Amino acid sequence: MTYELIQVETQDRVGVLTLNRPDALNALNAQLVRELGEAAQAFDQDPEIGCILVTGMEKAFAAGADIKEMKDKTYEQVFAEDFITDDWEVLAKLRTPVVAAVSGFALGGGCEVAMMCDLIIAGDSAKFGQPEIKLGTIPGAGGTQRLTRAVGKAKAMELCLTGRMMDAEEAERAGLVAKVVPAADLQTEAMKTAGAIAGMSLPIAQRCKEAVNIAFETTLNEGVRFERRTFHSTFATHDRSEGMDAFVNKRKPDWQHR
Ligand code: HXC
Repeated sequence: MTYELIQVETQDRVGVLTLNRPDALNALNAQLVRELGEAAQAFDQDPEIGCILVTGMEKAFAAGADIKEMKDKTYEQVFAEDFITDDWEVLAKLRTPVVAAVSGFALGGGCEVAMMCDLIIAGDSAKFGQPEIKLGTIPGAGGTQRLTRAVGKAKAMELCLTGRMMDAEEAERAGLVAKVVPAADLQTEAMKTAGAIAGMSLPIAQRCKEAVNIAFETTLNEGVRFERRTFHSTFATHDRSEGMDAFVNKRKPDWQHR
């Protein structure tokens, strides 16, 4: 498959998707979002890929949905298309763990795409925000929901209602990003994390990610019950036996991904 607005490459068991629309600071038009969704789904279905890394360019991860493409849409159109199309939500539904490496602007839909990933690693130049209110609209790809779950009501309200940007340090303090690294080291550091995840047993990492995500969907009791049953299910895998045997015999596990 050839893509125009993203780059797709594989490094060991990591599938790397790079947003590549530099003239528009990676503004997310329909084509870019479709390409991102297709390529992400292909990696998700590939048993040789243990982690997906989504990244952009130095100046911008993505400066939001494409305002030029959006500006003349009517209410009838957005309702009929159910705009934000399902393409946008693909990243949030993948089973393979997804890491976002964010440098520069992650605004509006760009911040929302980063938040659909399982964890965000930020370069120290990163700037996050939901500036839609300045355009006379509101976030439409999960911003009001995922940002609020990540940073709590007070800061989410402030960011969504003022449209101001938050730098990488503040985003880390607020719990939006897992770690901040010097911008120059972002790709190397993000690849280290993605590589570490890809080095685990994929079916176990899939179970682990699903269990963490359940925390955002349900009550504590139900979440703990889900976790326990999922924990039990790891005992049906080859790799659970292998991991514990390897520990006891002081050797590296040889994951079979089953
Ligand atoms: C379309 C965009 C764009 C966007 C930047 N560009 N962001 N085009 N949609 N979201 C284009 C500019 O028009 C310009 O193209 C080129 O990229 C470079 O941008 P500049 O503005 O010249 O760069 P700079 O002065 O460095 O400012 C960077 C910036 C600013 C602060 C990020 O571009 C900006 O405020 N962008 C919009 C951010 C935003 O409001 N995002 C939310 C979008 S709404 P030309 O051709 O003019 O040189 C949204 C809704 C999500 O995301 C809902 C779900 C879809």
